[in-house]
Amino acid sequence: MDYKELVFALNRIGIALGSETKLQNLFNLIVDEIINFADCDACSLYIKDPVKNELVFQATKTLSLKHRKGTESVFKSFSVPIELKSIAGYTAIKGETVNLEDCYNIPKETSYDFNESYDQKTGYKTVSMLSVPMKDNEGDVLGVIQLINKFDKKGKIVPFSKEFEEIILSLASQAAVALINARLLEANRNLYKALVEAFSEAIEARSPHTAGHSKRVAYISNLIAVHINKKDDGYFGNIFFSEEKLEELKYAALLHDVGKVAVPESVLDKRNKLEEDEVAIIKNRFEIIKFSTDFNIHDDKVKNEFLKQIEADLKFILEKNTPGFCSEDDKKKIIEIGNKIFIDFDGVEHPYLEEDEIYMLTNFVKGNFSPEEWEKMKRHVNNTLDILETVPFTDELKDIPRIAGAHHEMLNGSGYPFSVQGDGIMLQSRILAVADVFEALTASDRPYKKAMPIEKAVQVIGFMAKDGELDKELVGMFISDGLYQKYLEARDNGQINV
Ligand SMILES: [Fe+2]
Ligand SMILES: [Fe+2]
Repeated sequence: MDYKELVFALNRIGIALGSETKLQNLFNLIVDEIINFADCDACSLYIKDPVKNELVFQATKTLSLKHRKGTESVFKSFSVPIELKSIAGYTAIKGETVNLEDCYNIPKETSYDFNESYDQKTGYKTVSMLSVPMKDNEGDVLGVIQLINKFDKKGKIVPFSKEFEEIILSLASQAAVALINARLLEANRNLYKALVEAFSEAIEARSPHTAGHSKRVAYISNLIAVHINKKDDGYFGNIFFSEEKLEELKYAALLHDVGKVAVPESVLDKRNKLEEDEVAIIKNRFEIIKFSTDFNIHDDKVKNEFLKQIEADLKFILEKNTPGFCSEDDKKKIIEIGNKIFIDFDGVEHPYLEEDEIYMLTNFVKGNFSPEEWEKMKRHVNNTLDILETVPFTDELKDIPRIAGAHHEMLNGSGYPFSVQGDGIMLQSRILAVADVFEALTASDRPYKKAMPIEKAVQVIGFMAKDGELDKELVGMFISDGLYQKYLEARDNGQINV
């Protein structure tokens, strides 16, 4: 390699190392690049654990054995104590390069010895070795790189030359700088992850009924996206979610309901149309109605008829207090009962039900929610957007607010908060919408509804797709490729880890 080629190669490697931000990928890349550059048969990388004073074996490659750590059980990660008696340990402690012509013929005066166990296990024959420290800008050793069996032009194993030591040493320093950057980015990513999880758990801690919802929605969303990645033809054939995009979707799913922090608990946890204390007041009032009837009517037959009717009215009201559909006839009957009059012990007339009680029992739009409560509930998406838009997400995660903020939008424009239509809704949000609806339908812990039988839930999302609410391609794939079964299996086996 002439000087120009050398500079060019070093530059290229520097750029490649600098652009890899995932630690394990970086370790593998360092090993690959060094083998290529140095024209040797094998390379191993150890990273220093200063707390345990150990070197942790992170990556290796042996061209003649075609091994890479993780692909063969013999290459399981291990640690070695940092001691002068091992070659790697010596390199790490002294910060010096060790250049050995023949590992089985090490000069007697050295403190280190060659560990033959690897060769014995694999039948490999280590001859020449170059062990270099990975030093950062301040000269601190972060790890050790070992190059093994240098080839000459004819492919014969020869020692590593003296001039070569310096170049590899500078390459190892480039690797050290890349390692520092990757570590910082990883720490950053871990911080994001921890914050997202803490955030999502905080919302769910508010209501025991939604505990685990976001995690399950994230699991389903990821299941769908990963499945799309496997398709190379058909509707999703051209779509591929990179690792970063999958992460973005997962975080958006974990955070999609974060706006529920601002929804009053009375709405969030609402079980029936009227709250327990309101029901207690009504029951109490009906006792008074019975007393007053008993007091005011003297004909026993008539009195009994009246008392029976009062009991029946109360029973009807209590029955209609539960979640679910209420027919027009039922509403009429509630109003009729509510408007009946009784006279209290002071001779004052009162209706059986107060106006707001009648309102709560007859004016609800979803489950148990009155229109006002439903508006408050719907606001959670605006809140989610407001909250997430204040977070300075990295470029890789910048679409989280947009994805999460559209989880209740429907393709036909019937969703909320912005009634966005069709292509205006990102695919990730459509995935989230399918996941959100299916999870909610099949969850057993919602206050306002019981879990739906699976076949019914599948039918419901099918109808929602047919009506142009959910994406029909996604729902079709979710059902026909058995993704919903995979999800339910994982859920029931307690394997929802995101
Ligand atoms: Fe939601
Ligand atoms: Fe949700």
